[in-house]
Amino acid sequence: MYAGDSDLGSYWMPFTANRQFKVAPRLLVSARDMHFTTHDGRKVLDGVAGLWCVNAGHGRDKIVNAIRQQAGELDFAPPFQMGHPLQFELAKRLQLLLPGDLNQTFFTNSGSESVDTALKIALAYHRARGEGSRRWLIGRERGYHGSNMGGVSVGGIAANRKAFGNLLTCVDHLPHTHSIAHNSYSRGQPSWGAHLADDLESRIIALHDASNIAAVIVEPVAGSTGVLIPPRGYLERLREICDQHGILLIFDEVITGFGRLGSSFACEKFGVLPDLVCLAKGLTNGAVPMGAVTVRQGVYDTIMGAAPANAIELFHGYTYSGHPLAVAAALATLDVYAEEGLFARAAELAPYFEHAVHSLRELPFVIDVRNLGMVAGIELEPIPQKPAARAFEVFQRCYEKGILVRTTGDIVALSPPLIISKAQIDELVDGLKEVLRALSH
Ligand SMILES: Cc1ncc(COP(=O)(O)O)c(C=O)c1O
Repeated sequence: MYAGDSDLGSYWMPFTANRQFKVAPRLLVSARDMHFTTHDGRKVLDGVAGLWCVNAGHGRDKIVNAIRQQAGELDFAPPFQMGHPLQFELAKRLQLLLPGDLNQTFFTNSGSESVDTALKIALAYHRARGEGSRRWLIGRERGYHGSNMGGVSVGGIAANRKAFGNLLTCVDHLPHTHSIAHNSYSRGQPSWGAHLADDLESRIIALHDASNIAAVIVEPVAGSTGVLIPPRGYLERLREICDQHGILLIFDEVITGFGRLGSSFACEKFGVLPDLVCLAKGLTNGAVPMGAVTVRQGVYDTIMGAAPANAIELFHGYTYSGHPLAVAAALATLDVYAEEGLFARAAELAPYFEHAVHSLRELPFVIDVRNLGMVAGIELEPIPQKPAARAFEVFQRCYEKGILVRTTGDIVALSPPLIISKAQIDELVDGLKEVLRALSH
């Protein structure tokens, strides 16, 4: 039982087993670089960049100082019909960082808001070009696109959907690409599965007709469902089919953006240009909530062009869109990434990380290891009739040992800050090995 002073009863925690947590809480009170400190004074090595977001490591002075200074200078500026200079600067910086003509950025406050914003922009775009019948939104099984209504609807994780009724109508899902039978222990992109993209044409377009379909949304690498790496050629094929049928392709890069794969964005790494990209997490290094949707020039121009002169073109936005503190944090974060060459560092470290995580292959209960850039998934054999219980035990034991991993179902995900050292990669993987060896069932 937690022996601290706080009463834990009033806080309803997100995506958490509240009752279980409150019996034995895991409270973090500070963080610096690669480590958290717990309420009982223990150091915990961060193997997941907080929640896939602290790509530059914790407590970075440049980011902290930028937030502090901004709070003293301009705490808030209304975002509707008003602006402040740093919003425009950040949008420009993102334009320079993103490939192709992904030029126009809309600010949100989270990945979930980015996804719902992107879906709304896709619908508005088709309507603006006179194809308002395009209302179907296509997600993918096992996809995670946040927890708002649009994102849950196109998302494909049953547990996230089942309590919430019908969600959005006019939504269908592509099959997921995960197959241990074909792709176990893949290093980098697996070779089997590009043909699964054809389902878009052979089933979904055949069923609903392209004239009714607005957009396809996928995570280039599915993160929250347990690190599913896209088969070689799969994303390229999706792009081709979308192009052939006038369907927008949205990449949800909330996890894959800002260096995670050893490149600025997944779209750059895979050489596949989406029409819209959803960003969040690493945008501010997790320090202030923020998200963004960047769209290709043609999408923006179409929506601008369809509105009467001097009218609001898109009736959408948030009180905190482009909040001064978030924008200041994002600009400082982009500086840190650039000054320390963290995206290139991730690419350099990736082979070492790959070698380390694949050494888990021989351990008890491990049935797959997969990786790309600085992200890896280790899949465990579930305990019969107790899905997710084994991985959760691993998570708990790792935490007690002083390493933070993330688990989803029976998959352990690793996605450390990109400042991790080789010695810390060893510490993370060796810790996980000890925990796996100690499991009795
Ligand atoms: C791919 C993806 N999209 C959207 C989200 C939702 O982001 P947020 O939790 O900031 O709303 C997440 C969060 O993990 C994500 O991984």
